[in-house]
Amino acid sequence: MTSPQFDDHDLFTPEPDAVVQLRSVTVRRGAKDLIRDIDWTVRDGERWIVMGPNGAGKSTLMQVAAARMHPSVGDVGLLDEVLGEVDVFELRPRIGLSSAQLAGQVPGSETVQNAVVTAAYGVTGRWREEYELDDEGRALALIHQWGLARLARRRFDSLSEGERKRVLIARALMTDPELLLLDEPAAGLDVGGREDLVRTLSTVAADEDAPALVLVTHHLEEVPPGFTHALLLREGEVVHAGPIRETLTDEHLSAAFGLPLRVSESDGRYSAVAARR
Ligand SMILES: Nc1ncnc2c1ncn2[C@@H]1O[C@H](COP(=O)(O)OP(=O)(O)OP(=O)(O)O)[C@@H](O)[C@H]1O
Ligand SMILES: [Mg+2]
Repeated sequence: MTSPQFDDHDLFTPEPDAVVQLRSVTVRRGAKDLIRDIDWTVRDGERWIVMGPNGAGKSTLMQVAAARMHPSVGDVGLLDEVLGEVDVFELRPRIGLSSAQLAGQVPGSETVQNAVVTAAYGVTGRWREEYELDDEGRALALIHQWGLARLARRRFDSLSEGERKRVLIARALMTDPELLLLDEPAAGLDVGGREDLVRTLSTVAADEDAPALVLVTHHLEEVPPGFTHALLLREGEVVHAGPIRETLTDEHLSAAFGLPLRVSESDGRYSAVAARR
């Protein structure tokens, strides 16, 4: 009998301060690579923006970072664990995720209160689980914190888009996660709702006790002040990743979106317009 051959894969140990560490990660469906050969490390205390055009692979990347999807190739370290070597049902409650896909899994008849509290058990839909009083208390506190108190008994399907987004963030925070992934939390919000959310996320970003944060967005206007890093994706590949000011530049954003853009920044708020030729 021959002894097993060890390659790099077997030697993968995430760095101690890495909350998310992807090494050469590819996710393949059929002949298509949804994301390809991604190296990415999110460390304790960092606040990341992920940007890129429609279909660039942002949500796929969030699914991997949320332990909801396994890579076809490569290694993924999440919170001192390695995907494939850990029970994902134990890992997932340590990671908060809000996404349009998750929103679609919350039954419309669910109340706001239940949509939040059920996250304590990693389920969407309240059947027969017994919830601890502590969980109900935490859900209520989050519902207040996110300005949803008057909606606590309302059905999820009766909410406006902005109200739904806030419910999903409160839900993502229910398990007191060590990593919070927000996939387009401002999509569909009016300007007031967006500004509210940007301000709240900026406050969260400044809180040393807050979890590591990753925010997916299409719009530079949605980048909250205090975010520290950015990753730009195009067609499944990393265009640039690093400290936010070195990444959200004319050059890198133009490359990511495939058109000439001029970026400006003032008081930590970013915006972009098409560059005049
Ligand atoms: N199961 C699948 N099989 C084949 N292709 C898929 C599958 N899931 C996603 N895709 C494709 O992979 C690409 C990346 O999708 P993804 O949702 O990650 O993009 P995105 O950057 O989040 O886009 P958006 O900005 O529109 O949300 C898209 O072209 C999508 O159609
Ligand atoms: Mg997406």
